[in-house]
Amino acid sequence: MKTDFASRLTKLGTETAFAVSQHVAEFEAEGNKVYPFHLGDINIPTPENIMEAANRALQDGKTGYNPSVGIPQLRDVLAEKIGNERDISLSRENVVVQPGGKPVISKFIQALMNPGDGVLYPNPGYPIYESQIEFHGGIPLPYDYIPKPNGFSINRDRVEEMIDTNTRLFIYNNYQNPMGGESDLDEMDWIADLVQRHDLWLLSDEAYFNIQYSGKPKSIVSLPGMQERTVILYTFSKTYAMTGWRLGAAIGPANLMKIFAKLGVNDESCTNHFIQYGGVEALTGNQEGSQSILAELKKRRDSLYGKLNEMEGVSLYIPNSTFYLFPDVTDLYHQIEAKSYEDFRSIVLRETGVSFCTREHFGTPQPNEDRKYIRFAYSGISVPEIEESMAIFQEYFERQHALTLP
Ligand SMILES: Cc1ncc(COP(=O)(O)O)c(C=O)c1O
Repeated sequence: MKTDFASRLTKLGTETAFAVSQHVAEFEAEGNKVYPFHLGDINIPTPENIMEAANRALQDGKTGYNPSVGIPQLRDVLAEKIGNERDISLSRENVVVQPGGKPVISKFIQALMNPGDGVLYPNPGYPIYESQIEFHGGIPLPYDYIPKPNGFSINRDRVEEMIDTNTRLFIYNNYQNPMGGESDLDEMDWIADLVQRHDLWLLSDEAYFNIQYSGKPKSIVSLPGMQERTVILYTFSKTYAMTGWRLGAAIGPANLMKIFAKLGVNDESCTNHFIQYGGVEALTGNQEGSQSILAELKKRRDSLYGKLNEMEGVSLYIPNSTFYLFPDVTDLYHQIEAKSYEDFRSIVLRETGVSFCTREHFGTPQPNEDRKYIRFAYSGISVPEIEESMAIFQEYFERQHALTLP
């Protein structure tokens, strides 16, 4: 029997945060207490009204195949809501329902990129972009960020340097995982101008668009000339605590959405039927559930930020969106003489039970990158546990610091 797998698999990456989960599960199984900050999952239940709607649909027999583009009711309410929030006009033809937000990434790449085409994407960024670009034979063009007083901004020089006539796609994630960063208007205008000048397609990954602790979000699709070259990645996962339901959508030009539907027929036939009725309720029903999810996340953000901010050797800013903090821990890293990011993560897990992802889980660090960052996701841990964990974390590093004093 032949045992070698297809050679293209050498190009397929993964979401390395899941590897952290496995390590953490093993550590926990040995009887250790773990404070989980590593995975962007949510330990808050999906709002009751959404569960009831899906349950009703299940009981009503919505258990068979349904259109590969999604049920018309959900496409209509998505077109209305996404259009209203972004001040653009959309109809059902612009919407293809997906089993989660993630499938939009591979469909965007498969539909628009030929082997050898260049794709700009964020690094640090969601790891699936790079995996899918490489898997489908594209040229990865990772762009980095520069720290600014209240966040990070895209390294524009680097983008302009990498872009050439082979570049075809720009992947943009605002509001950003893992940094919690967001573009100001100037940055958005610059991207809109760039992609139009170079005639690029843009994937606007808006997974965290509705996780805003104050003010209103802004999408690049609202800028002049952008709607016809943008695909929005929409997901119910974060806003409605529905990560395991697998429900999202691609929103873009109607002719391109037909290609997305064809790819869907080949891959998954359709999105789970009864779950889409939960999606309709999520968008049109009582919003108390999503509001209380947001209120709980805000309490966690404030608590975690407060604790980290008072720690010696940690510097960070407080994002207004997402559920991530991305502190600079360079001093702590050197204090415990970590040999690598993985070494730092493992030591801290072993000594404190605090589990997080490092900057390395979001792309290969640039050669000139000397600061060390980690990502705390506070979506899966309660305020009392945040407080308890940060006391242990702080105490551990204070002890290490005392040991290094003469
Ligand atoms: C930036 C970003 N895009 C897309 C996704 C995928 O979302 P979903 O779980 O709906 O597939 C995630 C999930 O963590 C994300 O952080």
